[in-house]
Amino acid sequence: MTAKVLDGKALAKQMRHSIKQQVQNRIAQGIRPPGLAVILLGGNPASEIYVRHKRNACAEVGMISKSFSLPEHTSQEDLLTQLDQLNEDKDIDGILVQLPLPAHIDSELVIERIVPHKDVDGFHPYNAGRLSLNLPLLRPCTSKGMMTLLAHTGISLVGLDAVMIGQSNIVGRPMALELSAAHATVTLCHIHTRHLADKIRCADIVVSAVGKAHLISGDWIKPGAIVIDAGMNKLANGHLVGDVDFAEALKKASWITPVPGGVGPMTVASLLENTLQAAQL
Ligand code: GUN
Repeated sequence: MTAKVLDGKALAKQMRHSIKQQVQNRIAQGIRPPGLAVILLGGNPASEIYVRHKRNACAEVGMISKSFSLPEHTSQEDLLTQLDQLNEDKDIDGILVQLPLPAHIDSELVIERIVPHKDVDGFHPYNAGRLSLNLPLLRPCTSKGMMTLLAHTGISLVGLDAVMIGQSNIVGRPMALELSAAHATVTLCHIHTRHLADKIRCADIVVSAVGKAHLISGDWIKPGAIVIDAGMNKLANGHLVGDVDFAEALKKASWITPVPGGVGPMTVASLLENTLQAAQL
């Protein structure tokens, strides 16, 4: 079997097209375009690339993006004051602070300072709690994007065995909740998980968000499984790869996401969806 490739780049483009039309409809009704504030502290090269993609996507769909590129040594107090101003700003619907933050800043405090209805990342305990209660409002973008990709396969997830590898608050935990809400049977694996290969061999859906190249061998994939790879790893030769051995898994899976061009563009498209949703809230 050769898997069908889940083309996140193409699907995200369709989503941006639809969002752009919805933004234009708002403007035609005399409503201002949605506004997103994107805050980046310091010069983490990966974060700079992600933030650039987010700002460009906003511009493409006609949203207003306010950029704050603050120095690495910005104090926590100054960052919190900035968030207070954006919380009050009538032209801003969504606020995003790119993670990870420098070590002198308490990320939890920062996330909790954003008012929940502007938390387009879905990381505030209010939004995370709503997802865990299966009452989702603003949902974390990467897991939301992966669920949109899964929906695109047309396969019902009800009763399927799903293995999520990685339990970060940004991707793994919310994705385990999303899969559970879709009535899959979910195993959430992490660094201390024993017999990972055996668990993956039984999985109808494999989702990886670890950030370790070659972590998942192609021969662990059950024939016909759906493979979603949120890993993004740069090899010594400069090539970008996911966590899964793509060439080998392609021979076993029914559907598989490429890296790049799979999950990444869907994260950004989901952020635009969330910003539109926040503007409508
Ligand atoms: N860092 C890695 N992924 C994300 C994300 O989805 N949102 C934010 N704010 N930071 C990130």
